[in-house]
Amino acid sequence: EAPALFAGKKIMITAGPTREALDPVRYISNHSSGKMGYAIAEAARKMGAHVTLVSGPVNISAPPNVELISVTSAQEMHDAVMRDIQQQDIFIACAAVADFRLADIPTHKVKKKDGILTLSFEPNPDILQAVAAQARPPFTLGFAAETNDIEAYAKSKLERKKLNMIAANDVSLSGLGFNSDRNALTVITKNSKISLPATSKYRLAIELLKLLNSEYSASQNN
Ligand code: C5P
Repeated sequence: EAPALFAGKKIMITAGPTREALDPVRYISNHSSGKMGYAIAEAARKMGAHVTLVSGPVNISAPPNVELISVTSAQEMHDAVMRDIQQQDIFIACAAVADFRLADIPTHKVKKKDGILTLSFEPNPDILQAVAAQARPPFTLGFAAETNDIEAYAKSKLERKKLNMIAANDVSLSGLGFNSDRNALTVITKNSKISLPATSKYRLAIELLKLLNSEYSASQNN
């Protein structure tokens, strides 16, 4: 069920949410469970890869024999990825990275006051885009969580970020995606579109990695 397609290959995977500090005791984040990224890490390892999992804060444990790098903020995730990306053959961006961070993080806990609290945010680096923009990038797979016009948005993301592949999931479907143990994906490349039907995230990860391997092998032969 898990052919050793990635023997001798290094795969880096980002997973989970990031946390952006609001002050020393508070943060903003999102509902990403990390399950899809961890399932991909487990599947990639079973398929023979050396796996580095760069993970935001999650409540699940890393699969065996995977190198885990735990981070908190988007900037930390970016720095951890960039430190080691030159060594990687394949980069899979599964993390739900916060798009913004607080422009100035107070050094003391913010006190309660009457009226409206206004905060200013600045953009976080786009980790996947930074990886794909390198002179000699690894093979890149991104994810796109959309609620509508899934394929069109995924396709434009593929082109804008200069990715090899993008896996789109419809987060509006109930019982799939966020926090669920099951998911379904539409996998898009420059000239193909393949639907992987709903199944467990681990089985989906195996199918996704088989597709990735055929695209990756084809790209190496050019
Ligand atoms: O543009 P959007 O955020 O929808 O793109 C999603 C893809 O980009 C995912 O693969 C996600 O992991 C990656 N991403 C990233 N760094 C960001 C934002 C998104 O790596 N700051």
